Amino acid sequence: MAKPATLITGASGGIGLALAEIYAKNSHPLILVARSEDTLTEIAARLQKRYDIPVKPIALDLSAPGATAELYSQLAADQTPIDQLINNAGFANYGTFHSIPTDRQLDLIDLNIRVLTDLSQRFIPILLQFPNSRLVNVASTAAFFPGPHMAAYYASKAYVLSLSEALAEEYRTTHLAVCALCPGPTKTGFQDRAQMQRSRLMQGQFMTADQVAHAAYLGIQSGDPIIIPGTMNRFLTWLPRIMPRTALARIIAGAQEPV
Ligand SMILES: NC(=O)c1ccc[n+]([C@@H]2O[C@H](COP(=O)([O-])OP(=O)(O)OC[C@H]3O[C@@H](n4cnc5c(N)ncnc54)[C@H](OP(=O)(O)O)[C@@H]3O)[C@@H](O)[C@H]2O)c1
Repeated sequence: MAKPATLITGASGGIGLALAEIYAKNSHPLILVARSEDTLTEIAARLQKRYDIPVKPIALDLSAPGATAELYSQLAADQTPIDQLINNAGFANYGTFHSIPTDRQLDLIDLNIRVLTDLSQRFIPILLQFPNSRLVNVASTAAFFPGPHMAAYYASKAYVLSLSEALAEEYRTTHLAVCALCPGPTKTGFQDRAQMQRSRLMQGQFMTADQVAHAAYLGIQSGDPIIIPGTMNRFLTWLPRIMPRTALARIIAGAQEPV
């Protein structure tokens, strides 16, 4: 049987692309999903040529009605072996809660929560067929805090973290390890898309997507249930253990307020 592939959503840029690079370098066949067809096709051809591995690009808007079912049936019909699923596609909205268009908030919940849950449910039975399989859900350090000025985004990532921790325990005695990847601020197209140029956070320190992917790859292969790249990020996510939630909300409000 062919070597099982890693399926990465949101692989046309940012953290997803950096993960695709490091997986390709380590000889994992890849299935890459995002909406930007030309970019994805170019990435697939480049990785395939450079690392001599099969890479299948699938251009798909995962939020479109029926898209997750379509992705699943396309891969199931081909009997494509998949031993790692990385639910990475996601985005944020920045601004005072009521000023953000409702459609954008509901789109965020749809991609960050519904699509991730749906793909996890559909693909776990396939992942369970392989030894050392992985379900990786990209959460964020935001998952640990209430997030004024990006309230729905922080709440969506709290869902991803909680879901992943629960699944890690449910499948603990199987071959499947479930990992929540929790990057801190990382320089990608994410900030422009979230329209967070005015956030004070933009003046702070960012990791690169390559640094995040490197730490993530090591953690994923070890099967760590929570992976937080960067020493400072690990320290920050420890604060909720010693501070009241109201104080945490005040700190994030200060970090995210417009300047
Ligand atoms: N950057 C940060 O500071 C940061 C920190 C913590 C966590 N994260 C999380 O990391 C993940 C990746 O973010 P990033 O920073 O790499 O952002 P990014 O550069 O904006 O990349 C997002 C990826 O998702 C894809 N995507 C967006 N909507 C999609 C849809 N409807 N269907 C299919 N693909 C879609 C985009 O490709 P197309 O536009 O081609 O579809 C792109 O490949 C997200 O879950 C994000 O919440 C980011």
